[in-house]
Amino acid sequence: MKLLPAYIYSLFFFASGILFLTSCTKPACDADDKIIYQKADSVLNLMTLEEKVGQMLNIGLPALLQGPFYSYRDTLLFDSTKVHKLLVENMAGSVQNLGNFPLKPEQWRYYIAKLQKVVKNQTRLGIPILYGIDAAHGANYTAGSVMFPHQINIAASFNTAIAENVAEITSYELKASAIPWNYAPVLDVARHPMWGRIYESFGEDTYVVSEMGAAMLKGAQGNNPGAYDKTISCAKHFLGYGASYNGKDRSPVILSENYIRQVLLPPFKKAVDDGLLCIMISSGAMNGIPCHIDYNLITKLLKEELGFKGFVISDWSDIDNLYTVHKVATNEREAIKMSVLAGLDMCMEPYDESFAVNLLDLVNKGEVPISRVDDAVRRILYVKFKSGIFEDAIFDNYTYDQFASAKSDSLNKAFAIESITLLKNENDLLPLSKDAKVLVTGVAGNSINYLNGGWSRTWSGQDTAYNDQGKLTIYTAIQKLIGKNRVVFSQGTGYTEGDYIKEAVALAKKADVIVACVGEKPATEKPSDIDELDLPDIQQQLVKALAETGKPLVLVMVQGRPRIIREIEPLASGIIMAYLPGNEGGAAIADVLFGNANPSGKLPYTYPRYMGSLWTYDHLLSDERDIYFGLNGFTPQYEFGYGLSYTSFDYLNLKLSSDSISMGDSLKMEITVSNTGKSAGMESVLLFLTDEVASVSPPVKQLKRFTKVQLEPGESTKINFELTIDDFQFVNQQNKWIAEPGYFTIAVGNQKARFYLSN
Ligand code: BGC
Repeated sequence: MKLLPAYIYSLFFFASGILFLTSCTKPACDADDKIIYQKADSVLNLMTLEEKVGQMLNIGLPALLQGPFYSYRDTLLFDSTKVHKLLVENMAGSVQNLGNFPLKPEQWRYYIAKLQKVVKNQTRLGIPILYGIDAAHGANYTAGSVMFPHQINIAASFNTAIAENVAEITSYELKASAIPWNYAPVLDVARHPMWGRIYESFGEDTYVVSEMGAAMLKGAQGNNPGAYDKTISCAKHFLGYGASYNGKDRSPVILSENYIRQVLLPPFKKAVDDGLLCIMISSGAMNGIPCHIDYNLITKLLKEELGFKGFVISDWSDIDNLYTVHKVATNEREAIKMSVLAGLDMCMEPYDESFAVNLLDLVNKGEVPISRVDDAVRRILYVKFKSGIFEDAIFDNYTYDQFASAKSDSLNKAFAIESITLLKNENDLLPLSKDAKVLVTGVAGNSINYLNGGWSRTWSGQDTAYNDQGKLTIYTAIQKLIGKNRVVFSQGTGYTEGDYIKEAVALAKKADVIVACVGEKPATEKPSDIDELDLPDIQQQLVKALAETGKPLVLVMVQGRPRIIREIEPLASGIIMAYLPGNEGGAAIADVLFGNANPSGKLPYTYPRYMGSLWTYDHLLSDERDIYFGLNGFTPQYEFGYGLSYTSFDYLNLKLSSDSISMGDSLKMEITVSNTGKSAGMESVLLFLTDEVASVSPPVKQLKRFTKVQLEPGESTKINFELTIDDFQFVNQQNKWIAEPGYFTIAVGNQKARFYLSN
């Protein structure tokens, strides 16, 4: 093969006079975009078909290594034959992931530089590789990086600044590892509490997911995703992934267009509007059609209607799944044809080059038009130019001296604290006295892995060998806070088995207070599936036995899902939901337990009481009709948006700018929030709207705004929100967004007001 000068495209930089893309505002962005498309086209015009299909292949890192991947523990050994075959002969345009262990930043830079050198020197055009990874809560596959609370915690904080900050630091630490592309954020609206990946999401509410997602995108990409501290975001999983009817991962969904547009699409739409550059397709099937072959979903809805300009990548091995699992194709070739014709631009194929080989044949035989391939590659090149890798593929001109800085660690702890949700505090048991003698028990009580959950140094997050030194578990954090001599630990139980309850009870008898730390074993994707939402029986038995001692009991829940606790809830005087608070979670929980910090999280999902009543807060009134027949209606254990504080907040004087507005008007709302307790605290103020009557049965209420305030004891503040026509709209019977005249009710705290919307 004849080699063209390696960095032929660098000509375009000099021609345009731009070496580094700078941040830009809208018109300037459009101008920059024009230049980027010119660059992408200039490269595209030089490419052979083989080079084009190669760009559409995203190969797994293990496919480039010597021997079996799972035998690697801390370093990598490339197999030069495999590297040559995949990156030089088949010209794969991107590489992804790790999953078995973390690498240090300098190792990442070293290995990625090696791969970049191969494509630079040995391929005709030298197009740099785009390296992608799952940095789900911080740069979790880089050793020593800051591992933040998971997305569900960020949602519970109801503070979008946290989402933005987490994404900023994650991008910085990814770039310190030469990784420019993150398979995040998860924008699935998690509608089923059994779904194991609920912790990766922002919860059950469309508006929260949209707002938090937008903040994360801003923090990650900023105005210039090619900057030394920014990354390309790949939002996932398009679409319906968090809404399966059985709560299992990757399961099918049956959803009306109305529901899709009203509930699931808005977060993706907002991200696309805000400049999202990559979307990953859901592994599931929607209404019988696997998302990967759904032309209406990928091409008509995402690319044409939403105007998505980035590229669309498959999920892991999901083209293969079309013939092995979904059974819509008889073989791989057919599956590739279906998905590329549906609009898929890149295939995440962990193992081999077969995607590129088959696609080449499909185009050569006229079964896939070259125009479709050109469209895909143009999108990929556009994103590659935006990512900055053409100018600098390993980002080694920067020191990244803020990697895992003390400042980031302390922010991490503050973020965890803001997410922790106090669900019960009978007789003000909490905060606990630092003089108390404490028993810490339970499977999550002395484990860093439980605090971090999945995607933590390893894919499953279970391997203790890679835990960061010096991070505190709940037990060791309490020891540090109140002194070793005041705290004892007893395992109590394992996750679903392992009965050490007797020992825990014996120690409880000698303690002043019991801190029972229950929770979920770290898990990711399919392995996180469960058949029963109840907290595992053995853990409930522990709590019941401990309660019999008569000692005051605080239940700390370290779990992604809302595991049902109906039977043990009355036995605990204090209940804290920690979700998966990350590496500083132990310290954060200890601070909350002993009053160094005042909790302010609120539930980002409905906490069910019964397995047979798994409704979201924005259900329909008709869902509740069973209440007339001796059943429970909507009586969750805790409602969406519920969360207590060590202080108290009063809501007063809800005022609307008018009690009657017409369609074009906006509505202003003001309310006074006061801290009426004795300690400083933060309060998330949530505004719910109810459309009283509509031509499509309206949800009982919908969150429309939220904000968070910090108030000293005795301090009051006025909160102002403004609602516009978009807030009054819903998706009608013709699947169009409209507002209808009629009465609406606004509720903030315990205050309500009604207004009329006229034509
Ligand atoms: C998951 C994705 C992830 C991808 C790459 C898939 O199995 O569903 O969320 O980004 O693997 O690791």
